[in-house]
Amino acid sequence: MKKIIYSAMRPTGKLHLGHLVGALKNWKDLQDKYCCIFGIADWHALMGEYENSDSIKENTREMVLDWLSCGLDPQKSVFAVQSEVAEHLELHIIFSCITPLGWLERNPTYKEQLREIKTRDLQTYGFLGYPVLQAADILVYRANAVPIGEDQLPHLELTREIGRRFNHIFKTELFPDCEPILTKTPRLLGLDGRKMSKSYQNTINLSDSSDEVSAKVKGMFTDPLRIKLSDCGHPDKCNVFEYYSVFAPEKKEEVFEWCSKAKKGCTDCKKELGLVLNQFLGPIRDKRENFCRNNGMIEDILSEGTAKAKTMAKDTMKKVREVVF
Ligand code: TRP
Ligand code: SF4
Repeated sequence: MKKIIYSAMRPTGKLHLGHLVGALKNWKDLQDKYCCIFGIADWHALMGEYENSDSIKENTREMVLDWLSCGLDPQKSVFAVQSEVAEHLELHIIFSCITPLGWLERNPTYKEQLREIKTRDLQTYGFLGYPVLQAADILVYRANAVPIGEDQLPHLELTREIGRRFNHIFKTELFPDCEPILTKTPRLLGLDGRKMSKSYQNTINLSDSSDEVSAKVKGMFTDPLRIKLSDCGHPDKCNVFEYYSVFAPEKKEEVFEWCSKAKKGCTDCKKELGLVLNQFLGPIRDKRENFCRNNGMIEDILSEGTAKAKTMAKDTMKKVREVVF
């Protein structure tokens, strides 16, 4: 039996290079070895975007197009829409009964989001339970491992604790211990050097045109100590150099040399990075265009994946009911 891997993304907008480097590349590599289920966490999207819920459907389509163009393969993996597998909710309510309030109120991610997100009211019953639903997402498939970013570690720890508590209370071993699988690539920062995020408008999207990419790269922040062309730069302190490390490691040495010895200016350095990124994104763009032309394909992929997921989730819920009631 292959190990089961589960991960999910919220359909809240177009995916960017940060998603690719931080998650999709990892997901793609796992597909060949494991039974992977990739979830479209539209209920989690709704928890934050309830006032804007009509965007979730379109975002789902865009996100799945991004997944496909990056090489996620519905022949190998299961793509499942969370809100169409009601078993997640059934498990969520049972987990809600056994999860101490303190675990949720203490959750650092929760506290941070309440503090930082001012554009939406997140003081809701549902949002407090965000990680309980996430635990249900993972455990309804009895997943053994979850590829996630470091920011999601507190949530996974809660999943593990909820699973253990369930096993203890209902005297069972139904839920396995699920391990995180972290990406090795360092986190890619946004154009302005902050975390890459849609809300900071500092992203390079997978679906950006080559002109958009060139223009965005042109505006990237560089080493602030290098003001004139004749100043020697500090590639280690420059985000542009980080991008070379990730997308063209074979050029690193050359860039280091021209930067630290002031042989080439930042404008040229960025022009060249634009070319590198466009070359990298070219095949992804081509695939996207092909998939876009194929009407109805996304719907078929999702309904097929969701049906498979439902079979697995139903099996778990049957066993859950047996031990609970
Ligand atoms: N909370 C995750 C995020 O924002 C999305 C998510 C929902 C998830 N359910 C999950 C991730 C289960 C991993 C496993 O990125
Ligand atoms: Fe950054 Fe390139 Fe300028 Fe050096 S030359 S500071 S690496 S943009």
